[in-house]
Amino acid sequence: MTDTALTVHQTARPRGFPTPGHFAFVESAVPAPGPGTALVENLYWSVDPYHREMMDGDFTLDAPLEGRTIGRVVHSRHPSLREGGIVFHRLGWRTHAVVTPDQARPVPRFEGVPLSAHLGILGGTGLTAYVGLTRIAELREGQDVFVSAAGGGVGTATGRLARLMGAGRLVGSTGRASKAAHLTEHVGYDEVFDYHAGPVAGLLAGAAPDGIDLYLDNVGGEHLEAAISSLREYGRIVRIGTLAQYNSTGTPYALRNLPDIVEKSLRMEGFLVRNHGHVQKELYEFVVPHLQSGRVGLDETVVDGFGRIVDAFLGMLRGENQGKIIVRAAGTAV
Ligand SMILES: NC(=O)c1ccc[n+]([C@@H]2O[C@H](COP(=O)([O-])OP(=O)(O)OC[C@H]3O[C@@H](n4cnc5c(N)ncnc54)[C@H](OP(=O)(O)O)[C@@H]3O)[C@@H](O)[C@H]2O)c1
Repeated sequence: MTDTALTVHQTARPRGFPTPGHFAFVESAVPAPGPGTALVENLYWSVDPYHREMMDGDFTLDAPLEGRTIGRVVHSRHPSLREGGIVFHRLGWRTHAVVTPDQARPVPRFEGVPLSAHLGILGGTGLTAYVGLTRIAELREGQDVFVSAAGGGVGTATGRLARLMGAGRLVGSTGRASKAAHLTEHVGYDEVFDYHAGPVAGLLAGAAPDGIDLYLDNVGGEHLEAAISSLREYGRIVRIGTLAQYNSTGTPYALRNLPDIVEKSLRMEGFLVRNHGHVQKELYEFVVPHLQSGRVGLDETVVDGFGRIVDAFLGMLRGENQGKIIVRAAGTAV
């Protein structure tokens, strides 16, 4: 193991899109675990849109950034953190972390399923899609579904899971033709449009001419307005995130069709996946057999090398990822 640890700090608050200049890689000696803790060498990191939201004020400047991470315990001073064990923790954006048993949980291993899946379809990303579909949308067989940011982590997981759950017509939106092709050829979407191609309301109406029952909203703004127009009576909107706003410096989009929510008796509900941890086991039971049989494939963009974590994050904000974006430590073979 190397003697040097690297940690990423945020060094300035961005206005609009962040740049590499808002971050610094800080070198230090590999930390030594104190009594009751363990040293983890990190193997996989998740970079997420919520990091962009936290950059506006929640992240302390010039301090290590948090993030969902999987690593191997390399030196333990607590009996419940076994040396060699693979654990999940949230002290990411650093090559090494000292964790207490409260901060780290063992990652269950499923034969034939790569570890990276625990940051994608089996992790918070997949759980967001699963909770959105089962607990908030309460998807029923045959219902027609629209998903925005369909080509990303949550969007691909939502498509895969909705297909398994018997959804009817599955429509998505994304920003790139290559992602649209992947979604229809591999994920199970029936039709996907590029939201840059014109007003979203017209594009959605063209892709779902008979309307939709459910909208899984990762984007907000114009997408949400379009979905309200396309939803049938008693339709549901699941508010997951607001990607259209995270890097915007302008006034947030003002929805013009709010009266339709009343006229069509629509229901709109948001949620945070962190309040649904109790559903995790159910997600494993539902999806792992399909991963093992190959019916569900992994939608991941894997970026190699911790040194590229900032580039991976900025690339994700620009839409360069197909499926869940994951950073992998150089030479990782588990
Ligand atoms: N509620 C929760 O607990 C929870 C948990 C996890 C994630 N989320 C939310 O779920 C959403 C998806 O997260 P993710 O981790 O799966 O990220 P992701 O979709 O893998 O990556 C972000 C994607 O957003 C798209 N995008 C960027 N700017 C956009 C814009 N202005 N309009 C439309 N699309 C834009 C890009 O794809 P294109 O090529 O399509 O533009 C990009 O690839 C986010 O809103 C996130 O905050 C919520």
